[in-house]
Amino acid sequence: MQILRTVEELRQWSRARRCEGTDSGIALVPTMGALHAGHASLIRAAAEARPGRVAVSIFVNPTQFGPNEDFARYPRTFAADCALAEREGATVIFAPSVEEMYPAGAATFVDVEALSDRLDGASRPGHFRGVATVVAKLLITAEADLAFFGQKDAAQVAVLRRMVADLRSGTKIVVCPIVREGDGLALSSRNVYLSAAERKQALALSRAVWWVEKSVAGGERQSAVLIEAARNVFAEVPEVRVDYIEIVDWDTLWPVRSAAKGTLFAVAAWVGKTRLIDNTIIN
Ligand code: PAJ
Repeated sequence: MQILRTVEELRQWSRARRCEGTDSGIALVPTMGALHAGHASLIRAAAEARPGRVAVSIFVNPTQFGPNEDFARYPRTFAADCALAEREGATVIFAPSVEEMYPAGAATFVDVEALSDRLDGASRPGHFRGVATVVAKLLITAEADLAFFGQKDAAQVAVLRRMVADLRSGTKIVVCPIVREGDGLALSSRNVYLSAAERKQALALSRAVWWVEKSVAGGERQSAVLIEAARNVFAEVPEVRVDYIEIVDWDTLWPVRSAAKGTLFAVAAWVGKTRLIDNTIIN
């Protein structure tokens, strides 16, 4: 497995693969590293779709972190990431420097209007602008026909689907299911921040998700009632501070009065100093 450091190397690699005679394209799996089983599931899916043509990017993107967020202390585990990516079927790793992705004087950003101010975008101003900008750069460079993302970051998926449609990029976004620990906690690179006590408290998120799924299965559809049920789950764990509990249309991220098939139920909460998210798509 090759490690590429510059956009030119990635572009050359992608072009060479696409000149090899078969008509299938490149699969891209964008990550910030600190890879876990959730990332692994994306890489596996990409390798199944485009064997021998999978680029995994590892880049802790500064523009998607707020000034008081965890950019500096975000876990960086490059050697282990490479081993995991190779095991799961990555063909190349793309690990650029910040200067490579944001050359001196960089002044171009991608703003997905309206959507970027919803859910995580409301509590993390500028976050989705940073995400959309870096993913646009990755898509332009890799010229991928498939890009793999996790449902774990459901609002991010909505923003990127909108971006790809608007920029007419031709890349198809593939969404993979949320990978969870045995007890329900959604895997996240930020779970390493949790103390043993916080790790237990963090289960409030997946319990709220599970409770809403159960209520929907029992016939409840009213958003207000479902949100109240989720609030009651959080009320049992007072150490956890809710950021948002929302039931929204997954395309627009706009609240809906009642949940239907495809509606997104999403939560974000602070467990100590760590902000975690979870969600489910109503079916
Ligand atoms: P990161 O948090 O590293 O996540 C990379 C991809 O892995 C995202 O698509 C995310 O949804 C997915 N993922 C994370 N945890 C998951 C889980 N438990 N189950 C399934 N998939 C999971 O998301 C980002 O990086 C960045 O914003 C990025 C898109 C790379 C842009 O910088």
